[in-house]
Amino acid sequence: SVIGRPLPHESAALHVAGRAPYIDDLPELAGTLHGALLLSPIAHGRLLGVDKAALLARPGVVAVYVAADIPGTNDCGPVVHDDPLLADGALRHVGQPVALVVARTRDQARAACAQAGAAALRVERVGAPLLDARSAHAAGVHVLPSLRLARGDAAAARAAAPQRLQGTFSLGGQEQFYLEGQISYALPQEDGGMLVHCSTQHPSEMQHVVAHVLGLAAHRVQVQCRRMGGGFGGKESQSALFAGLAALAAADLQCPVKLRPDRDDDFAITGRRHGFEFDVDAGFDDEGRLQGVSVEMIANAGHSADLSAAVVSRALCHFDNAYWLGDVAMAGHMARTHTQSNTAFRGFGGPQGALAIEYLLDGIARRLGRDPLDVRRANFYGQPGEVDAQGRERCVTPYGQRVEDNIIDALVSDLEARSAYRARRAEIDAFNAGSPVLKRGLALTPVKFGISFNVAHLNQAGAQVHIYTDGSVLVNHGGTEMGQGLNTKVAMVVAEALGLPPQQVRCTATDTQKVANTSATAASTGADLNGKAAQAAALTLRGRLAAVAAAGWGVAPEAVRFADGRVTSACGTHARDFADLVNAAYLQRVQLWSDGFYATPGLHWDRTTLTGHPFYYYAWGAAVSEVLVDTLTGEHRLLRADLLHDVGASLNPALDIGQVEGAYIQGMGWLTMEELWWQPDDGSPAGQRHAGRLMTHAPSTYKIPTALDCPPQFHVALWDGRCGVDTVHRSKAVGEPPLLLGFSAFFAIRDAIAAAAGPGAVPPLRAPATPEAVLDALAALRVGT
Ligand code: MTE
Ligand code: MOS
Repeated sequence: SVIGRPLPHESAALHVAGRAPYIDDLPELAGTLHGALLLSPIAHGRLLGVDKAALLARPGVVAVYVAADIPGTNDCGPVVHDDPLLADGALRHVGQPVALVVARTRDQARAACAQAGAAALRVERVGAPLLDARSAHAAGVHVLPSLRLARGDAAAARAAAPQRLQGTFSLGGQEQFYLEGQISYALPQEDGGMLVHCSTQHPSEMQHVVAHVLGLAAHRVQVQCRRMGGGFGGKESQSALFAGLAALAAADLQCPVKLRPDRDDDFAITGRRHGFEFDVDAGFDDEGRLQGVSVEMIANAGHSADLSAAVVSRALCHFDNAYWLGDVAMAGHMARTHTQSNTAFRGFGGPQGALAIEYLLDGIARRLGRDPLDVRRANFYGQPGEVDAQGRERCVTPYGQRVEDNIIDALVSDLEARSAYRARRAEIDAFNAGSPVLKRGLALTPVKFGISFNVAHLNQAGAQVHIYTDGSVLVNHGGTEMGQGLNTKVAMVVAEALGLPPQQVRCTATDTQKVANTSATAASTGADLNGKAAQAAALTLRGRLAAVAAAGWGVAPEAVRFADGRVTSACGTHARDFADLVNAAYLQRVQLWSDGFYATPGLHWDRTTLTGHPFYYYAWGAAVSEVLVDTLTGEHRLLRADLLHDVGASLNPALDIGQVEGAYIQGMGWLTMEELWWQPDDGSPAGQRHAGRLMTHAPSTYKIPTALDCPPQFHVALWDGRCGVDTVHRSKAVGEPPLLLGFSAFFAIRDAIAAAAGPGAVPPLRAPATPEAVLDALAALRVGT
């Protein structure tokens, strides 16, 4: 079988040789022009005018566009239409695009913005920018109404509980830092249409936006994406601004136009993972079992709605993580600030929600003087049928879905043993007792992550499979390849269905002219949805081929087998090559291509009450991290990580382990080193000049993990299991869930800080746990001063 083999990524050889073409590598057509964006220098103000002549006078500049030049709608908001491509009066954040400058070369376009931009812009400050979510929330400024999800009576349960912990927790956002930045290359077509090569997770949405911007019907707009150099959620909605503006200029000038912001502009223009502020109030018993939890989540939405409602919904639906919450009250607020509009990022709010309860349980354990693993375990979801003291089934989530495939107890026990958690805990305690400055910390955190888009209708996919007469197979599906290996997995599924060696099947670029009305490749559903759709198409074709073979051999079609590129009869008397059968079918005028479609069954979601059955199943996992913290400098080093993650029956363990490792490192980076900082309007000279500017705007100032930040001991394993529902070959989605494994690194740092402070200390550690955050936590505990 092809399924379950650790095959390399379909482009692995091209990737490592630098020969996999990304959009900027495509040969440019003669006459291609290049865009650069002129950005707002102020965070909260008004645009009074743009002196186009001053920009047009710069070398090489051929056109300048402002909001009024857009023939269709000036909007790229994916859900709520509150997101202008070019500022239309109000200036909402530093870096907001105000004008598109098109020149003969990219350097000329950029130089025109840099040298003439400031003088060409007439702007007026309106007031001090709101930069943090708490102040915006306190001021009552939101992009959308708040969401609430509650079950039972949290306040009453808390009042009856023996113990109580209240607190706040501050969690930063995260830049996607895709290696290939945002880019679109728009090519006018002969019939007034437009072809856009776009680095995007969502070609259909790009098609809509381009059509609306240009005032064209969708059938005139074609969007293609062969691969992205990473998306991580940042190219789900926010590739639209670049696609729309490149198309705007290309349509007007009737020339190909490429728009590729550099990294600093990409940081300044696009949003990222929402930072959250939490207020938590929890009752619990002496074992640490939760009895009544309330949480207020305040997300920094940025200047527009973008995907914030879905992100906050997912945060609310993941606050439970792996834990039974009988009585719980949650509210999610989407604060509007004068910053980039925050958007999807791996986990899509789920990590933020789950981190909050992990922070709470970790704090409770420290208050009780218990090992946090024991407190976590005491709160795990039960198996179906298991009830609490009030007779409530301990497997029902706050949003009403039953957790029927719970493996967390077994998985955590397995990891606990593999990682020698208890022995290392004792060894670390002994080390810490004799080490006043350097402290080691250890933490085990679990993951439960719901798979499916919370919006039921998005859970659909289509595919086309073509069999050519030489027996080679071409697949096209609606998903996009961003490095995760989706095309490799889908090709394997098709190869399996047709009994072919994997190299006989090829996936091609995603193209809105091949599969219509696709969903974003997001929510980790790429292989689940597109794999099933492609499998359906392949099985249709296999049925047709089986009928041809069966008729030739005089056997029943069910008796025809497809394996290893051969077609045989069950009794073994007949056999022929796949290609030979295909050719025979062609001569008999049998259709050798087919479409396939898939819609995930059984999903429903009420978006007013936030209840229903939003997820087809859950993915599970757990991680143990060990760190060494220097209590004088606040620096830490990750010493060891042990990961055990559930991908059901793996379609491809090499790709899945790659996803698990990468996600852990990305989660660890978010929570331990990646810090975003906008210059506040604090009256200082910098504050006056740069109020609202994102000062961590490039790799110089924004630090993501490097190869050297990987733990020297890194043990990654896949849980041996099968998905409980009918997914493609019983595999599970892998893209996002293991990002939550990175929590363990953060809590290991908190553990080390607690060791420095002594028994009973509950360190108030914010995320990311940078050296400054660690020193602040130590200072709050009056350690090391
Ligand atoms: N892996 C790589 N290499 N590059 C990426 O951009 N994006 C992640 C994850 N893994 C990403 C990645 C995100 S945010 C999602 S939703 C999934 O991949 C999307 O792909 P899938 O649904 O096929 O897993
Ligand atoms: Mo992933 S955040 O759903 O693109």
